[in-house]
Amino acid sequence: MPKKIKLGILGGGGDSLIGVLHRIASHINDNYEIVGAVFNPDLGESIKFAKEIDIPTNRIYNDFETLVEEELKLPKEERIQVCSILTPNFLHFPMAKKLLENGFHVICEKPMTTTYDEAKILQKLLDKSNLVFAVTHTYTGYPMTRQMREMIKSGALGKIQKVDAQYYQGWINPIIHDKSKRGSTWRLDPEKSGISCCMGDIGVHAFNMIEFTTGLQIKSILADLNYLYDDNKMDIDGTVLVRFEGNAKGVIRSSQIATGEENGLTIAVYGDKGALKWEQENPNFLYAMSDDKPVQIYKPGHAYNSELSLDGTKLPPGHPEGIFDAMANIYLGVARAIRGEKYNSGEFPTMNDGVRGLNFIESTVKSHQQGNSWVNLIK
Ligand SMILES: NC(=O)c1ccc[n+]([C@@H]2O[C@H](COP(=O)([O-])OP(=O)(O)OC[C@H]3O[C@@H](n4cnc5c(N)ncnc54)[C@H](O)[C@@H]3O)[C@@H](O)[C@H]2O)c1
Repeated sequence: MPKKIKLGILGGGGDSLIGVLHRIASHINDNYEIVGAVFNPDLGESIKFAKEIDIPTNRIYNDFETLVEEELKLPKEERIQVCSILTPNFLHFPMAKKLLENGFHVICEKPMTTTYDEAKILQKLLDKSNLVFAVTHTYTGYPMTRQMREMIKSGALGKIQKVDAQYYQGWINPIIHDKSKRGSTWRLDPEKSGISCCMGDIGVHAFNMIEFTTGLQIKSILADLNYLYDDNKMDIDGTVLVRFEGNAKGVIRSSQIATGEENGLTIAVYGDKGALKWEQENPNFLYAMSDDKPVQIYKPGHAYNSELSLDGTKLPPGHPEGIFDAMANIYLGVARAIRGEKYNSGEFPTMNDGVRGLNFIESTVKSHQQGNSWVNLIK
């Protein structure tokens, strides 16, 4: 076993949603050890949390600038090699920029930045380096979304003619209907979240899932967003029509006010020979449909699955693996890339996915503001 990769964490403190997912995922395949962090903007809170999870406190820093400066003083073999950025969106860009400028690999939460221009700056920096940059579109790590990608790549669906991705949640209802509570989440603050709430937070996952599974690039979009209240600055729901090259078309339906919905991400891809459908809340079932046969269900761990899918399964069939394992698969791919080992391009979303994501987010808002007109995505 090679030495563990030294991982730093920015954000993801005890008060966060996503921190636990990254911490556990990074440990699942025994590739990483967390050696330093800024878990929280308050140093005392960061240190308190480090003690709670039993991480030495001597490399818990006041802020990300100090983390970079102090780590660079350490001998290379002790230094943090890769940092995970798990803060509210507006901090992703300055953190990722500083890390890339100073030779650290990056695992960045989505959306990668708050603007397309920032995303392009990061892309240029990365292009000049030999560093690894991953964007954690977590759902690409599931064995059955990987299977979907590989089946579509092998031509199992024939020519793609229709795509339908839905990401429905209802969590923002109690906040959005109470004016006094709207300031209680950074996701509704454009300064912290970027120009979009719903499309930036979850629509972008649906967009990425379409491009990940089909291997196609969305060419143009038309968006109708819903802000629900005139004084609310952020979309919390929306429908986006999408067009590909040729005559393939589709729809992204995304909502944070879909009452009663939890984390309802589903993707269906329809080709002229067959179709595949997958639902995040039942991730171990991939439905293969056709016009002339009964529905087939593919499940993880069986030899009939692709190499990429099987690589993301650790246990024999019938032992359910979930979101922690999906994120762990992304961390595993990043570990291989950092070590210079061979890996499949489907193992983790990259800077290009991050840039495409910001292109999508900005285009949806532009389309809506222009009176629901078609907008071409930048190639
Ligand atoms: N991949 C996914 O499916 C997924 C799911 C949820 C969230 N996310 C993304 O993860 C990021 C964090 O989301 P969340 O829901 O965990 O947010 P959160 O508000 O729950 O947690 C944010 C964390 O960042 C810390 N933080 C804030 N400012 C900081 C600073 N200056 N330095 C260091 N730490 C700081 C906070 O103390 C907190 O621990 C967002 O970009 C979000 O879009 C991704």
